[in-house]
Amino acid sequence: MTGPAPSSPLLDVTNLVVQFRSRGKLLSERSRTFNAVNDVSLQIMPGESLGLVGESGCGKTSFGRAILMLNRPAAGKIHFDGTSITDLPAERLRTMRRHMQMVFQDPYSSLDPRMTVGQIVGEPVKTHEPAPLRTIREKAAATLEIVGIDPRRMDDYPHQFSGGQRQRIGIARALAVRPKFIVCDEATSALDVSVRAQILNLLVDLRQRYGLTYLLISHDLGSLRHMSDRIGVMYLGKLVEIGPVSAMYETPGHPYTQSLLSAMPVPDPRLERARKRIVLSGDVPSPQAAPTGCCFHTRCWLREHLGRPARCHEQEPELRATMRGTKAACHFSEEAAAQRPVTSSTDGVATNRRVIVRS
Ligand SMILES: Nc1ncnc2c1ncn2[C@@H]1O[C@H](COP(=O)(O)OP(=O)(O)O)[C@@H](O)[C@H]1O
Ligand code: SF4
Ligand SMILES: [Mg+2]
Repeated sequence: MTGPAPSSPLLDVTNLVVQFRSRGKLLSERSRTFNAVNDVSLQIMPGESLGLVGESGCGKTSFGRAILMLNRPAAGKIHFDGTSITDLPAERLRTMRRHMQMVFQDPYSSLDPRMTVGQIVGEPVKTHEPAPLRTIREKAAATLEIVGIDPRRMDDYPHQFSGGQRQRIGIARALAVRPKFIVCDEATSALDVSVRAQILNLLVDLRQRYGLTYLLISHDLGSLRHMSDRIGVMYLGKLVEIGPVSAMYETPGHPYTQSLLSAMPVPDPRLERARKRIVLSGDVPSPQAAPTGCCFHTRCWLREHLGRPARCHEQEPELRATMRGTKAACHFSEEAAAQRPVTSSTDGVATNRRVIVRS
């Protein structure tokens, strides 16, 4: 592998589809295949941090796992650092994995309780850089120190650490083999608010220090704002909007992005009082019975406002450039931008791109 030119994406995903089989409620019902990720294409440049947001069940985790080939996609192509990883034989894929790591959502269940912290962090080193045990321990100790865990505690077990410390250990495990790319799947959502900002700031610092590229998955637009260069929004397995942070928060072109933004509290009490919330009717439909046409049409406030145009449920909108700097999959994105009934909002404030999370 020679590596791509600097202007090439580190990750290039084309028409990715991830499928699962659903079991019927009754024994007599046949299981059916459904798309958890439905034809998603996006690129991430070296050193970039892309935030991926959407309600629970929208396919964010399935997407994150598939791009690391932890779940095999049903269709689509994934190029990492210039190599097509969807076609790689198992041995070469294992070698590639060194460069692509994941930090999982739940620091309580993602660490093996029977292994010491030194073993947990040393494990990927052992897999990818076979070396004497002493060297592996030294690497594990150095990585623990980088993430703020006292290496003298490397013979302790996960249950002897707090939630925040365990997530630091999870980050150390991902960092130990010095990857290029890390997927953080809701890495802070299981943590207390007070600890959350510390972990987010650790991720910011590590990115600067090691030139890491991130995919940051979250249902919380607030924390993503100060961590990301661009934001992608998923709904029912589809990428419905993507763009630079400023455009996504100030002039979003998709009614779903606008509803997510309107749910964010605003720090300024005056603006908070004026904030108008878009409450979506109903729940996210099941991907096993995805709506026709635009996947958002059963809950879209703009469609109601426009008198329910037939186009919304007849024709699937393509992701296309809006006048305001994002790409949105909505037939009426210009109307959406004009109708936007929200104030600009954030639940965090940036200080040198470090994050202060408000409860
Ligand atoms: N292993 C699995 N088997 C069957 N269905 C799954 C599996 N993992 C996820 N799903 C389903 O795929 C859809 C997307 O899930 P997921 O990717 O976890 O969404 P998110 O991370 O956005 O909450 C959901 O409907 C979920 O129930
Ligand atoms: S295409 Fe129609 S239903 Fe879909 S987001 Fe746009 S206005 Fe709403
Ligand atoms: Mg998830």
